[in-house]
Amino acid sequence: MQAAIQTKDMPIAGSPEATAKPSPLLELRAVTKTYGPVAALSGLEASVAPGEFVTVVGPSGCGKSTLFNIVAGLEEPDAGGILRFEGNSCHAADLLGRVSFMPQRDLLLPWRNVVDNAILALEVEGMPRAQARAKALKMLPEFGLTGFEKQYPHQLSGGMRQRVALMRTFLFERGLMLLDEPFGALDALTRAMMQRWLLDVWQKYRRTILFITHDVDEAIFLGDRVLVMTARPGSVKLEQVVDLPRPRRPEIVTAPEFVRLKRTLLDAIEEESMKSFQSAVAQEKAT
Ligand SMILES: Nc1ncnc2c1ncn2[C@@H]1O[C@H](COP(=O)(O)OP(=O)(O)OP(=O)(O)O)[C@@H](O)[C@H]1O
Ligand SMILES: [Mg+2]
Repeated sequence: MQAAIQTKDMPIAGSPEATAKPSPLLELRAVTKTYGPVAALSGLEASVAPGEFVTVVGPSGCGKSTLFNIVAGLEEPDAGGILRFEGNSCHAADLLGRVSFMPQRDLLLPWRNVVDNAILALEVEGMPRAQARAKALKMLPEFGLTGFEKQYPHQLSGGMRQRVALMRTFLFERGLMLLDEPFGALDALTRAMMQRWLLDVWQKYRRTILFITHDVDEAIFLGDRVLVMTARPGSVKLEQVVDLPRPRRPEIVTAPEFVRLKRTLLDAIEEESMKSFQSAVAQEKAT
């Protein structure tokens, strides 16, 4: 079993300590992944510094979840690419259990209540249930779930279910958190609230986050950097630094710097979405 990764002393990206450019927590070099005839990723290059919040956007089907499956240790990339975690080159399988991962669907178990869903990863890791429950109960207020510990997923709102899934991911204390469209199913208001809340908990716990979204505003509002992926096979087309002060206020979305960033990102995404659409049409015609 790997020792838990130390996160407490990590500088928050953008803070004075972080300007010394710490060595990356995660590095991917020339990462490629094919599934039979489908090339999902090709020559992907990316790195994430400790404490950074990196958001990922790109057309549907460009390989974002595939990238996460690799970094979570669930899939091996094709031979030839390089994966480095904490400076050491490794196989994807070595990362299994070393990063916390919230998959695209929240995957709450309907027969487990809030607390027992939240402790799932801790239990799988071997922590005694009573100890895991005690940890989860302490975190409930911060996740806006006080009084709901005994409720089952079908008794919760969409926003609450997402918070339970996020709580599970936070409870599994790892230096790197992967969040795959965690707010995708929420209405705009709940989503905006959840974004602000996530920034608060991120700043408190100082985790490193890789976050997939289809929402460009969300990518800018949350991120220190936004990675725009190309159409499939996915690689990083554009790496945009978001140089906006933190803490970020909701009004920032109308600030000229924000709007400028959004224009740049939308142009890049639109170009790739168009390619993705055209190749889907071409494929349709060929069959
Ligand atoms: N296990 C698998 N077996 C075969 N093909 C797969 C598998 N996983 C993903 N793919 C293919 O790889 C490509 C990328 O899929 P992926 O789920 O990574 O896209 P995505 O960018 O996450 O899309 P979305 O934005 O819709 O979630 C798709 O063409 C998909 O069909
Ligand atoms: Mg996906």
